[in-house]
Amino acid sequence: MKKDPINVFGDWALSGRDVRMAHGHADSVNAMLGQVITTQKEFSFIDVGCGNGWVVKEMVNHPECKYAAGVDGSEHMITRAKSKDEKGNYFCEDIRQWMPKMTFDIVHSMEVFYYVEYPDSLIQNIFDFWLNPRGKLIMGIDFYLENKSCHTWQEDCGVSIMKLFPKDTWIEYFKSAGFKNITSHHLGVKENWEGTLVVMGEK
Ligand SMILES: C[S@@+](CC[C@H](N)C(=O)[O-])C[C@H]1O[C@@H](n2cnc3c(N)ncnc32)[C@H](O)[C@@H]1O
Repeated sequence: MKKDPINVFGDWALSGRDVRMAHGHADSVNAMLGQVITTQKEFSFIDVGCGNGWVVKEMVNHPECKYAAGVDGSEHMITRAKSKDEKGNYFCEDIRQWMPKMTFDIVHSMEVFYYVEYPDSLIQNIFDFWLNPRGKLIMGIDFYLENKSCHTWQEDCGVSIMKLFPKDTWIEYFKSAGFKNITSHHLGVKENWEGTLVVMGEK
């Protein structure tokens, strides 16, 4: 019987597997942060599906970051985040429904958007309710149709929701939400690995 993604990752937080996951994502995330943080002064930042908070912890120490937050549905992940980072702001919420009380200049997310039934609604909500005018959404995912070696992950990890879409579908979701200046590329491509698909758009 497959488990809800939030419960699967709650177990990962309890067993310490969150740390290994963070290390595995670090190269892609650091490249994504380098892409999205360019000349901004005093920006606000939120990490969607922040896991144990490692990206938020990095951002709170960025000289131009005036506010950094993370949201995750797993209580165990948020407990881990708060225990390691006193300066970041953490919310334990389900991103399928949550509306933040403030809006952000940068919304970042790594390996999260395919764990919801309707990623197009999530992307639309972020555009409408989470972002400031000219704010940017940057998303990284390793689970997508063209990356064939990921196709067994849903069975391997026993996760109930994992939406396997082609790259063009993700780009289309950004377009139909209203994003402009959309870019996409792959990070860390190697043999039998199409890399992290990164899509970025501006409000
Ligand atoms: C693959 S992990 C990635 C964690 C983090 N971004 C990282 O790179 O280490 C996916 C995360 O998304 C969270 N998540 C999945 N579905 C969610 C939902 N509906 N609401 C909030 N968080 C969710 C999980 O709890 C988990 O921490």
